[in-house]
Amino acid sequence: MAKSVKTIGVLTSGGDAPGMNAAIRGVVRTAIHQGLKVKGIMRGYAGLLQEEIVDMDSTSVSDIIHRGGTILYTARCMEFTTPEGQEQGAEICRKHGIDGIVVIGGDGSFRGAGKLAALGINTIGVPGTIDLDIACTDYTIGFDTAVNTAMEAIDKIRDTSTSHERCSIIEVMGRNAGYIALWCGIANGAEDILLPERYDGDEQALINRVIENRKRGKKHNIIINAEGIGHSASMARRIEAATGIETRATILGHMQRGGTPTCKDRVYASIMGSKAALLLAEGKSNRLVAYKNGDYVDFDIQEALNMKKDIQEEQYEIAKMLVR
Ligand code: ADP
Ligand code: F6P
Repeated sequence: MAKSVKTIGVLTSGGDAPGMNAAIRGVVRTAIHQGLKVKGIMRGYAGLLQEEIVDMDSTSVSDIIHRGGTILYTARCMEFTTPEGQEQGAEICRKHGIDGIVVIGGDGSFRGAGKLAALGINTIGVPGTIDLDIACTDYTIGFDTAVNTAMEAIDKIRDTSTSHERCSIIEVMGRNAGYIALWCGIANGAEDILLPERYDGDEQALINRVIENRKRGKKHNIIINAEGIGHSASMARRIEAATGIETRATILGHMQRGGTPTCKDRVYASIMGSKAALLLAEGKSNRLVAYKNGDYVDFDIQEALNMKKDIQEEQYEIAKMLVR
């Protein structure tokens, strides 16, 4: 049932993602346009429980659309996973007159958002993660910037790998998901792409392909490995021992989470943040903003969390065809 809100809060939670600032700006400016007051909650649910809450106006979000990271900071908070922590969070919202919240984060953050909604605080989630691993949406804030950052880094590694006629394993982020690996695998013309969703652990087959590629005259051999598989350094040692080809491992790590957001991340994040504030202004709660089949839509949080996602089979099959 719709419940009208006067003051909303906004927080970022979980891993940061480039474009989160654009989303915050979208929330704040839209809410003000709708006649709502806005409060920024610092450091995710941790800051909520610590009552790190600041008033925000239109100028609080000036000069941030082009900046990576999140001006509200982010954190992980075990305490908020407990019923007591969630009750306390809802109570603090009431104390500060916050009757609606926009949570920008990933699946974990949305579980928390669902709990707040059940405790009577109108809550809307906005998908912010470089991993693209939120089932209800084809787009998550930060993925586009992260794949572009990783792609540029991999191009550079490829140059040196070719010069030294080496094999390179490059590990990209993606806790349980291979989206960054798959996109970079295609964009960087990698020789092999290892995805947690598909890798069968057959390292001998991988080694055989490295040997075959060298016989065919390939000067480098780029293997993109997803963080969800990991073990890039030990894999490199085993490939070198088995093939006699010098092999280096590079873990790109957190550089993929930073940097100035791409145009796409700025625009989509702005629209999603704005849509979240509009949903709150309409009295909606327990919804997740998503981008599906070319439209901005919203889903019930629990329904969205129950959805399953897998990498697109067609994209994976084409990637495999193109690596040979
Ligand atoms: P992400 O949102 O990127 O998936 P996490 O999984 O680390 O990141 O979750 C971010 C935060 O969301 C956690 O630190 C915790 O405070 C909160 N959270 C995660 N899972 C739950 C849960 N089941 N119930 C309530 N809050 C949760
Ligand atoms: O959720 C995004 C992500 O970048 C994952 O790909 C990665 O596993 C994780 O965050 C790392 O998080 P942190 O080092 O901040 O704990």
